[in-house]
Amino acid sequence: MSWFDDYIKRLLFLLVSGAIISVIAIMLFKPSSWGEYGNYRGDALKAEASKPMIYGDNRSCISCHKEVNELARESSHKRLSCELCHTPLSEHVKDDKKFKDAVIVSKERQNELCLLCHKKVLGREGDFPIINPEKHLDILEVKPNTTCNKCHTVHAPMENINYIKSLRELREKKRLLKEEQLIEAKELEKIEREKAKDLDED
Ligand code: HEC
Ligand code: HEC
Ligand code: HEC
Ligand code: HEC
Repeated sequence: MSWFDDYIKRLLFLLVSGAIISVIAIMLFKPSSWGEYGNYRGDALKAEASKPMIYGDNRSCISCHKEVNELARESSHKRLSCELCHTPLSEHVKDDKKFKDAVIVSKERQNELCLLCHKKVLGREGDFPIINPEKHLDILEVKPNTTCNKCHTVHAPMENINYIKSLRELREKKRLLKEEQLIEAKELEKIEREKAKDLDED
């Protein structure tokens, strides 16, 4: 019986030759920048970085749009990406100059944009500010097609709300005052009528 008939030895032979072929293949084909930073091609980073830039992040917008940033930076919308609602930097700015208008959603579709995030959706966190659009506008006693921007400014949505709230409180006070005056006037009228009746009887 030759040694090669032993299947364990055949298996060992296969494993060892496999390992040798692998080592040779690695030596021949491994990219030179492999392992420069970690278990990947170091050159891959350079290749990604050399692609043309599309998004610039908020800092790139703020450099030219200081007024918007003044509004946005203190607001609850401060973490939103400008480019989410507008245009990627690369479609608006080239060589540090505006070359094309940035997209602004049309007036008709502004509410849709707001409700994308502020409508009740299954799974949305409980403490996220959501509204029921019909009820919201109903409570505020405005027409159903009133745009969100009429009261909320998009870059700082609570900016004018205190003003609107105080306006509503003022209107409510005025309404109550009118009601009180009406009741008082009616009572005075009643007294007047009774006095007049007394006068007639005398
Ligand atoms: C939630 C969506 C949204 C985000 C986020 C947003 N914008 Fe806007 N932006 C709008 C809408 C809608 C208008 C139009 C407002 C109007 O018609 O009154 C607008 C208008 C503008 C305008 C036109 C002039 C003006 O001041 O109204 C500029 C400039 C602008 N945005 C820049 C920015 C920058 C810079 C950021 C990031 C800091 C940003 N926007 C974030 C939705 C957004
Ligand atoms: C190099 C300066 C510069 C940068 C950077 C820049 N913009 Fe503008 N942008 C302008 C100028 C100039 C205008 C037109 C005048 C104005 O409204 O102030 C403008 C106007 C806009 C408008 C109004 C619509 C229009 O095009 O006229 C929006 C919205 C806007 N930019 C969004 C952005 C966003 C979002 C970014 C970041 C991705 C950005 N901009 C980055 C210069 C810039
Ligand atoms: C991409 C998602 C997104 C869009 C689109 C969006 N918002 Fe918001 N909004 C947010 C986030 C995030 C917050 C902060 C929530 C928090 O603080 O928990 C917020 C907060 C608010 C608040 C609550 C402010 C407070 O302090 O209680 C109002 C009001 C609001 N947004 C109105 C609007 C309006 C109006 C529009 C459309 C013009 C709009 N949002 C579009 C994400 C969005
Ligand atoms: C007529 C004015 C008006 C209009 C139009 C309006 N809102 Fe409001 N909104 C308010 C006022 C006032 C409050 C504050 C309510 C309060 O604190 O009692 C508010 C509060 C909110 C809040 C915060 C709710 C919370 O739980 O903190 C969100 C989100 C919101 N509005 C989104 C919207 C969206 C989206 C639209 C458009 C579909 C819209 N609003 C249209 C006046 C308005």
